[in-house]
Amino acid sequence: MATEIASTQDLAIGEMMGVEKDGTSLLVANVDGSFYAINNICTHMRCKLSEGVLTGDTVQCPCHGSIFNVKTGAVEKGPANSPVSSYPIEIEGDRIMAEL
Ligand code: FES
Repeated sequence: MATEIASTQDLAIGEMMGVEKDGTSLLVANVDGSFYAINNICTHMRCKLSEGVLTGDTVQCPCHGSIFNVKTGAVEKGPANSPVSSYPIEIEGDRIMAEL
């Protein structure tokens, strides 16, 4: 079941935030007006990606510089090897809903 993770009002274009929801740490990002959610915990050594830098559709981990695609969770640059989970988003009014 989809659960509300944030409001579209929370994030301007080019912004991201960390959200703790139902025991899952999420990164929610607004890329060019579309919203995406991935797991917030870097698969390298568990730093929070939301404390890194969002550039376009990629986020760079603050700890050792791994780069993940916020649309897919894929690794674009190591040292991380494994992708983070990506969660499908639905927008209902100004509510950002995700299947966790
Ligand atoms: S913890 Fe993210 S790159 Fe090392």
